[in-house]
Amino acid sequence: MSDIPTPHIEATSKDEIAKVVLMPGDPLRAKKIAETYLKDVKQFNQVRGMLGFTGTYKGKRVSVMGSGMGFGSIGIYSYELFKFYDVDTIIRIGSCGASRPDIKVMDIVLADKAFSTETFAKEAHGYDDKLIEGSQMVADTIREVAKENNIKMHEGNIASGNVFYSSVRDDWEKLEKENGIIAAEMEAFALFANAKATNKNGACLLTVSDSKYDHEKNLTAEARQNAFDAMMVLALETAAK
Ligand code: ADE
Repeated sequence: MSDIPTPHIEATSKDEIAKVVLMPGDPLRAKKIAETYLKDVKQFNQVRGMLGFTGTYKGKRVSVMGSGMGFGSIGIYSYELFKFYDVDTIIRIGSCGASRPDIKVMDIVLADKAFSTETFAKEAHGYDDKLIEGSQMVADTIREVAKENNIKMHEGNIASGNVFYSSVRDDWEKLEKENGIIAAEMEAFALFANAKATNKNGACLLTVSDSKYDHEKNLTAEARQNAFDAMMVLALETAAK
């Protein structure tokens, strides 16, 4: 019996999905990215509206698919892509909150390790680790592309968690200091755990959407687009290498 299609991805051939998949949280953003940056685009998924597309960038096949929000959602899609569709590399391209005053809204962050207080990695793969590393091979390529294109990034550990609204936790500043955390988001820990368990590559690039230190709300549409374009150059050029 074939493992594909999976319960959440309807592609009937592994060839419909490229070896490198870029994953924004929002499936409509995946559609927009495919339309804007890729050629010869074909849609390979629309189950639950989690749109996925494959096309070419500078002649190299690249896929882009939404991950949804939180460990549960990216946990399902990244596992099915790695395990059943033979995907080698997933680069999350998302947004984050800044955890340090020198990291400003619309800056770019490259995650080294993802930290979580939650149990996804233990439940899924028996890992007790609170910090899980992303692929250093992919991160090295991203660094190379950043240098070649003169794109500034912050690098460090990030915090991942399913809980966006917490009325009880007040120890984040301590945890951030202890674990070298520079930003917070909701998916990388599950992606990195699945990559580790399947012996594949997970990486995470983020643009800063909010900061408790930087209350700049009046960014122009142009500033937002420039930041997003810079992150896309990093992800696409890395995928094409
Ligand atoms: N995504 C964007 N901003 C975030 C924040 N402050 N915390 C968690 N996830 C986020």
